[in-house]
Amino acid sequence: MENLDGFIEGLPKAELHVHLEGTLEPGLKLKLARRNNLDLPYASEDEMRAAYAFDDLPSFLKVYYEGMSVLLEEQDFHDLTTAYLEKAHAQNVVYAEMFFDPQAHTTRGIAFDTVINGIRRAQVDAEDRLGIQTRLIMCFLRDMPAESAMETLERSLDYKDWIIGVGLDSDEKGNPPVKFKQVFERARAEGYLLTMHCDVDQQDSTTHIWQTLNDIGVDRIDHGVNALEDNALCREIKDRKLALTVCPISNGYVTDSRKTAEIKTMLDLGLRVTVNSDDPAYFPGYINENLIATQREAGLSKAQLIQLTINAFEGSWLSTTEKDAFLRRLDAYVA
Ligand code: ADE
Ligand code: ZN
Repeated sequence: MENLDGFIEGLPKAELHVHLEGTLEPGLKLKLARRNNLDLPYASEDEMRAAYAFDDLPSFLKVYYEGMSVLLEEQDFHDLTTAYLEKAHAQNVVYAEMFFDPQAHTTRGIAFDTVINGIRRAQVDAEDRLGIQTRLIMCFLRDMPAESAMETLERSLDYKDWIIGVGLDSDEKGNPPVKFKQVFERARAEGYLLTMHCDVDQQDSTTHIWQTLNDIGVDRIDHGVNALEDNALCREIKDRKLALTVCPISNGYVTDSRKTAEIKTMLDLGLRVTVNSDDPAYFPGYINENLIATQREAGLSKAQLIQLTINAFEGSWLSTTEKDAFLRRLDAYVA
């Protein structure tokens, strides 16, 4: 099989599924701990990585939330975002839609304004300096009450112009999409676009995916790999042209497989599947490593890699004009 690593690295790409808090690399975590006079139970990056022992979603989430303890000041959120955007730019990501988890900070006494002002300043800086374009998606933590999500939604309204949509993440078990029906109705009424995690191999996965379609009316599905178990569900997702944001290296850590054969099947079915990094500081690998792993494992062709990239731009929440400009850039690269 032809080696397509260089082709993948050079592709101008869009990333649609990355949690900013999941980009907190061990080095930056140690630096912020020192800056904020916090004691971490690790003396080095290697020790920290060695303690990243997770094999399912709940055990990952425990490490992920613990890691956030070093994010206190606006500058910390700025530096976190800048580090991701520099890395993404170095991998030829030209556009990113990034999640953030405000409740993971407000519940620690950090103001919503502190979080979003730091992130926003980094987005503006990075666009000026590097040309990388970005949008922000606010996620609600599904293992917290719907009332807390609603309060967070209301708190966000002052910043509506800085947030393109809302999502739903954290522990899915026992926390179905319908738990947040009213919150997402209100979010839609406020002008936000809607997405939700349907994490891989969860209890009631296909029921949850159906709920995102029939009860919520999402504009995208995060992960959603288990849709392949239900032909009618696949047809509906295809008819609605919904993007599925799959994260293979992440899947390999929290399930028994990277689900790369499933990504290929989704391409074969004409679903708008995309490849993304999720929490690259914890599931090591940014978008290029995820694409390379997928290409090698599933034996994807150049045409299929191009299709994944088209899917990401088409499935993004940019305007048609903006999408067309990025797709022309992709055409020029391929030519
Ligand atoms: N929060 C951060 N990463 C997540 C993931 N992969 N699934 C659910 N919630 C998350
Ligand atoms: Zn995710």
